[in-house]
Amino acid sequence: MLRRLHKNQPDSFEFSPANLAWAEKQIAKYPEGRQASAIIPLLWRAQEQEGWLSRPAIEKTCEMLGLANIRGMEVATFYFMFQLHPVGDVAHIQVCGTTSCMICGAEDLIGICKEKIAPNAHERSADGKLSWEEVECLGACSNAPMAQIGKDYYEDLSGEAFTQIIDELYAGKVPLPGSRNGRFASEPRSGLTSLTAHAENRQAANMSVSLATEKGDSISRITEG
Ligand code: FES
Repeated sequence: MLRRLHKNQPDSFEFSPANLAWAEKQIAKYPEGRQASAIIPLLWRAQEQEGWLSRPAIEKTCEMLGLANIRGMEVATFYFMFQLHPVGDVAHIQVCGTTSCMICGAEDLIGICKEKIAPNAHERSADGKLSWEEVECLGACSNAPMAQIGKDYYEDLSGEAFTQIIDELYAGKVPLPGSRNGRFASEPRSGLTSLTAHAENRQAANMSVSLATEKGDSISRITEG
């Protein structure tokens, strides 16, 4: 896929005071002369702040790291984790379209995105709340088909479950991440066949879902640390 900067760019970019302090802390972690290695965390933070990565944000990051702008462009245009176009104000939905997910119904999920969000990937919905794209394997193949929203995975999706997630996002709710067919993790659908000793005493949801529930807003862009 051709990855280009969006045709409409803001005039400037500045990190918020809190994010600037965070960025300076990250840069200080690297030995003298190796500050360029902080480029991915800084670009990611800029994206979390704005929702997407603009040219001024890339250039600001390069300036902070003493890099030529082209070095930032190389990184930002190479990795799919960086959004080069404005995304939905509430959420950007990344639907895995690789083999396992495709076999298990990813095309139906993409059809739902086209119908409920926008006809084309990287287009915002009419109200600006949501956007979507198809991405390559996200490493949750045993829970196919799946989608990533914010930092969380939504797995074992049916068309009905996916539609409900989108409706909840439009309604301002935060859908609970995790499996939609009742699985704890990626065990067989009929239940565990081994390592059953502690199954009865385990927590209600796996650690990833528990953390998202505890945090309360799993689609928010910025986390501390
Ligand atoms: S194929 Fe979809 S997560 Fe791997």
